[in-house]
Parts: sequence; C-alpha cells; structure tokens
Amino acid sequence: MKKTSQSTWGGRFSAGPAEAVKAYTESVSFDWRLFNHDIAGSIAHAKGLAKVGLLTRAEVKKIERGLRAIQHEIESGKFKWDFDCEDVHMNIEAALIRKIGAAGKKLHTGRSRNDQIATDIRLWLVAKIRSTNFEIRNLQGALVTLAEKECDTVIPGYTHLQRAQPVLLAHHLLAYVEMLGRDAERFADCAKRANICPLGSGAIAGSTLKLDRAYVAKLLGFAGVTQNSMDAVGDRDFIVEFHATAALTGAHLSRLAEDLILWSSAEFGFITIADAYTTGSSLMPQKKNPDIAELARGKTARLYGNLVQALTLLKSLPLTYNRDLQEDKQPLFKSADVLLSTLHMVAEMMGHIHVNHVKCEAAASDPLMLATDLVDFLVMKGMPFREAHHAVGALVAEVEKTHISLPKLAAKKYGPAAGKVFDVRRALAARTAIGAPSPKNVAAQIKRWKKLLNG
Ligand code: ARG
Repeated sequence: MKKTSQSTWGGRFSAGPAEAVKAYTESVSFDWRLFNHDIAGSIAHAKGLAKVGLLTRAEVKKIERGLRAIQHEIESGKFKWDFDCEDVHMNIEAALIRKIGAAGKKLHTGRSRNDQIATDIRLWLVAKIRSTNFEIRNLQGALVTLAEKECDTVIPGYTHLQRAQPVLLAHHLLAYVEMLGRDAERFADCAKRANICPLGSGAIAGSTLKLDRAYVAKLLGFAGVTQNSMDAVGDRDFIVEFHATAALTGAHLSRLAEDLILWSSAEFGFITIADAYTTGSSLMPQKKNPDIAELARGKTARLYGNLVQALTLLKSLPLTYNRDLQEDKQPLFKSADVLLSTLHMVAEMMGHIHVNHVKCEAAASDPLMLATDLVDFLVMKGMPFREAHHAVGALVAEVEKTHISLPKLAAKKYGPAAGKVFDVRRALAARTAIGAPSPKNVAAQIKRWKKLLNG
C-alpha cells in the first residue's frame, strides 16, 4: 500500500488504495474513450462557473487552453494515461493541474464525477446514435439499390420456411428497409431522451453554488436540463433504451443474414456472394462460406446479452449513484461498436451480391404457390371461399397422385381461364392492394424510399 493518499479524493485517507484495489476499481482502461466529451463538458462547466463569477475570464481561458492541449495529446497518442488516477475524469483533471496549476484546481467546483460521468455518456451516446443512424441509412440505401437492380426478379416467398406465394425479390428486400426505418426512429427517440444535461446535479443534491445549468447545457448542445438531481446521477434508462434498440436492430440484421445464408446455399442457389465477401474452409477446398452473414447473425447474441446486463445492473440498485454503474460502459461501448461494424459490413456485402436469375425464376414458377390464386379465381366465379379452398386442396392432392400439373388439372376442371391463373407475372401484377407486391407498387416503394433516404 502506498503511503501517500489519493490525490483527488484522498483528503480523509491516511494511505492510498492497495495496488490490487486500484487495478480492480479503475475504469480508465475503457472510459478513456469518453475523453472528447469529458473535455467538452469541462470547458462548458468552466464557462458556466465564469458566468456566475466563480472563475475569472483569464482562468477560463487557461483552463480551455490547457484542456485543448490535453485533447491534442490524447488524439496524437502522446498522453500518458495513469492508472493511479482511476478514470478519464481524474486523469484529465490531474493533467490539467500539472499543466496550468492553480486555475486547474478550481475546475471541479460545483461538480461531482457523478454528474460528470452521466454528462459524458449522454454526449457520447447522442453522437453514437447519429453515426448508427447514418449506417442504418447506408444499409437501407444498399438494399434499395439491389431492389431497384432486381426489380423484375421473382422468388418464392416463404412461411414456415415452406414455399408460400411468389414475391418480387425487391419486395422481400424492402421488408428489411421498413424494419430498419423503424429502428432508426427508435434510435432517434432514444437520443431525444439522452440529450438532456445532468451537469449541475452534483453528487446527488445539486450545489449550494448558484450554477447556471441551462447555460452550460446549451453550450454542450443539449436540448434541456434534467429536473431531479437524484434521478440525474442515478438514471441509466437511456443506456437500456439504446441496448434494447440495438438488440432489435440486431434481430433484423440476423434475419436478413439468415435469408442470405439460405439463399446462397446450393439448396436455394438464389444468390452468390462475391469472393471478397466470403471465406474459405481450411480443409474443404470447394467451400465458400457466407461468414459475414453468419457473424452478423452471431454478433447479435452480444447485443442481446448486453441488454440483459444493463437491465440487471439497474435491478434493485438503491438511489442514487453506486459504483456498480461504472459497469454500464464496457457493454455499451461493445454494443455500439458491434452494431456499427455489422451495419457497415452487411451494407458492403449487399453491394456484392450476384442474383442467379435462372434459379430464382425456376423456384418461383412452382405453380403450387399459386393455388390460392385459383381459389380467388373460383371465388370470383361465385364459389364460397371455404368450398373453393376445399376444391383446390383436392386438386393439389390429385397433382401429387397423378403428377399432372396443377395448371393442366385446373384448366381441365374449370376451363382455360383457370389455367391462365398460373402465370407468375400476371399473379404479381394482380396484387395491387397497398403493401402488396405488384411490380407497380414495388416500384413506387423504391421511389418512396429513395426520396426518404436522399432527403
Ligand atoms: N468511473 C466512474 C463511473 O464510471 C465515474 C464516477 C465515479 N464516481 C464516484 N463517486 N466514484 O461510474
């Protein structure tokens, strides 16, 4: 154990923490990532202190200059992070005091690391959400581009992973564009609640000093200030909301990944992913594996795990700040990183997908998938739906028994017009209701999304 006490909070201690304790409790090894926001927060706080007469203009200038120099050192990799200094806040404050002396010692006036860390993560998260939504839009763009390129390609649509009804490949891809659009909305909504400034809440009960919280919040670009100091230092809802939204986005990405994995298998054969976006097997020379899609699917597990971690961290935690909350950061950083890289990689891969039209067309031309259209045909002729369903079901059984095709049997039983029902493109063109995959509808959706994404 060191004889000297800890420099920031060591006033009441006769000795510093044991080495093992320092190693166990430090967070600078991961929270250093908050340095830009920590420095921005400190500069705004210093200006706020000057506004209410607690710092002189000259002191603020010194503090700002010192902090900018530290920021530059960190960015250029010259800054020496000191694990004795526990976290990003104390590292930067200690470096500032070393650099500018007395004025640096005044920076922490009216502030606690409790409101400081809450401010830092909120700033960090709002910025991350901006990048996330940029990547979401980028992926939506890649999906729309492929949809437009493949606007005439028909594939089977599946329910229960059994061939159900033919759809345009573009319609299938646009389903993901819709999901991702809702994800982006959820992220934007999460950013709205995260973008509120806790600074000025102090450790738990604000300050006796007359701080101008609104002024500081405005300097930092926050939309407002928190209204309860205890809530402000203890709340991590915004982190849970981010995880929940990230997890759901992961669910969508993993479903897209799964579709691509299936489609690229020999059994489906609908797509080929370009060599540069696949990997080989160390043993089987013939293998070409869709690893990006598999990892996108697999990394979603982390997003789910981190959501559960964040919720569990908050469960039963007494008000207000507890050191447990330090454990909020690593999973948050990991989830944001995983999500950004996955969105980016999947978008790139979408731009390197070759569609095998012959296979798609052959699979989509299975007339059994238009059995429902024959039911509709009979309904239009006046047959009650249940009867029509039963009659077509009996025809399908006959197909299985006789191996005569459904169009042939239908034409024989209900006239030549019934046989024409089985033209895939005619069947698609007839699906004109809002949200249905007629080529006209799908083209309109592509246009709509292009406008939304470029706007
Ligand atoms: N490293 C801490 C965290 O991430 C910062 C706040 C520490 N506050 C305290 N009173 N020890 O939560």
